[in-house]
Amino acid sequence: MNLMRRILALKEEKHAIILAHNYQRPEIQDLADVVGDSFELAQKARETKSPLIVFCGVLFMAETAKILNPGKKVLIPVRDATCPLADQLTPDMLLAAKARHPDAPVVLYINSTAVCKALADVICTSANAVKVVRSLSGKEVIVGPDANLAAYIQSQVPEKEIVALPPNGHCYVHECFTTEDLDDARRRGGTILCHPECRPEIQHGSDLVASTGGMVRAVQGQQGGRTWHILTEKEMGYRLKTLYPGQTFYTKEEAVCEDMKKTTLENLLEALEHEQHEVTIPPDIMERARGAIERMLVIGR
Ligand code: 13P
Ligand code: SF4
Repeated sequence: MNLMRRILALKEEKHAIILAHNYQRPEIQDLADVVGDSFELAQKARETKSPLIVFCGVLFMAETAKILNPGKKVLIPVRDATCPLADQLTPDMLLAAKARHPDAPVVLYINSTAVCKALADVICTSANAVKVVRSLSGKEVIVGPDANLAAYIQSQVPEKEIVALPPNGHCYVHECFTTEDLDDARRRGGTILCHPECRPEIQHGSDLVASTGGMVRAVQGQQGGRTWHILTEKEMGYRLKTLYPGQTFYTKEEAVCEDMKKTTLENLLEALEHEQHEVTIPPDIMERARGAIERMLVIGR
C-alpha cells in the first residue's frame, strides 16, 4: 500500500481527523480533512466529534486545538514544528506590560504560546483582529506578538492606542516582502493580496490585507482568468490554485516557513501509527487560555 493509502486507512481505523494549515506541503493539503487559516482550524477543532485530532501545522495551532478539546488526544507529527514569531513574546514581557498599562486589555495573536495565552484577555487571528479590538471598551490595548499586525489594527481602529508588545515582533517569512516586489507586481498587473504580518509599507501598497482564509474568500466568486499576487507563505499559491484552477497566482519562492515544511507524509504516517507526539498543557494554563480563546470564538462568529 502506498504512503497516502496507509495514512487514510489508519485515519479511518482510528476515527481521526487531519487538520492542515494553508502553508502545509501540497501532499499534506491533498489528504487533510480540513485545510484552512488559523481561525477556521480553531473553529473546526472546537466542533469536531473525532476522538483523535492530528494537527499538521505548528505547535501553537495544535495547542489551541488541545485547549479547546481537553478530553481528546491531539497529535502534532513533528514536535519541534514551532513558530518563531510566537516565541518572541514571553510571560515576563506580558506581566511587565500589564504593570505599565494596568487598564489596557491584552489581545494576543493566536501565534503565541499557551502560557502567554493564559495571561491574555482575548485571542485574535489575522481574520478577526480588527473586530476583536473594536469590541473592547477603553482606549489603550496591548497587542502582541506581531508588530505589523498591531500596526494594521492601529490603521483600522484609529480611535484606540495600540501598544505593540514586543515593539518589533515579526515573522521572518512575511518580512521578506519588499517594495520592489510591489513594483514588480504592479508592472505585471493583477490584484495584490498581502497578509497583515507584512510590513506597513507593503500593507499600504497592496489592494487588500487579509488572512489566508480572507485571501480564499477574495478570489472566490471572481469570474474569468484573473491574476493575483499573493504576498504570504508560498504554499498559499498551491491552496488557491487547487481551489481556483482557472486563475493565475504569483507567489515569492523565498517566502517559505521552514517549520510549516517539517511535516511530511512519512512523519504524518508515524504520528498516526504510534499516536505521537501528544500535545500536553498543564491544566491551569489550559483553563485560563481557553477563556481567552472562547471569547475570540464568540466575537469572531
Ligand atoms: P492565518 O491565520 O492567516 O492563516 O495566518 C497564520 C500564520 O501563521 C501566518 O503566518
Ligand atoms: Fe509563524 Fe511566520 Fe511560520 Fe506563520 S509563517 S507559522 S507566523 S513563522
